[in-house]
Amino acid sequence: MAETTVLGILASGRGSNLQSIIDAILAGKLAAEIGVVISDKPDANALKRAADLNLTAVCVDRKQYKTQQEFEQALVNELKLHQVELVILAGFMRILSPYFVHAFANRIMNIHPSLLPAFPGKHAQEQAIQYGAKISGCTVHFVDEGMDSGPIILQQAVPVMPDDTPATLAERILQQEHVIYPQAIKLYIEKRLQIEGRMVKVVDR
Ligand code: GAR
Repeated sequence: MAETTVLGILASGRGSNLQSIIDAILAGKLAAEIGVVISDKPDANALKRAADLNLTAVCVDRKQYKTQQEFEQALVNELKLHQVELVILAGFMRILSPYFVHAFANRIMNIHPSLLPAFPGKHAQEQAIQYGAKISGCTVHFVDEGMDSGPIILQQAVPVMPDDTPATLAERILQQEHVIYPQAIKLYIEKRLQIEGRMVKVVDR
């Protein structure tokens, strides 16, 4: 049987990016399997989606841990238990410390709903509208020790319309997130991503 890359998906909420990755795997577009889906929130819809598909779904509830370090140790243990190679942050709304980042160095991806380095942090779509940006979009990047600051893998631009609300812009951006996140994971699986400083080169194989 062909080798597959084991993904660990961390999600705090709705889980539509998780779904786009599941769909890409089921369509035979990604030589990956999902080892575990983890949420920091017991009521996350992402956990329900995963459980409905008989994927291993685990809640690592931040509230159950005294410190960030203990919480992150529990995350790392769970990911290692399921032999995860690549960690996918899919709407995971927590900042991870250097301890976690080093545990999976250059093996953590995040998706953010803006064209980084514009509008990092929370409410990126609202930030873009308030700034008056005409173009926003989404970014897949490797995670480093900063917030939304790691080397950029793929980006897709999306227009901001004059009558956009944060919700309508978020929806337009989300459609593109569902395209570029599976693409970025595919490039990783095919060993086509080379990190050189801040630059991620996409190489032919
Ligand atoms: C997505 O828009 C993702 O880009 C964003 O949260 C949403 C999660 O949606 N992530 C961030 O803002 C991270 N800073 P989903 O749960 O339906 O995948």
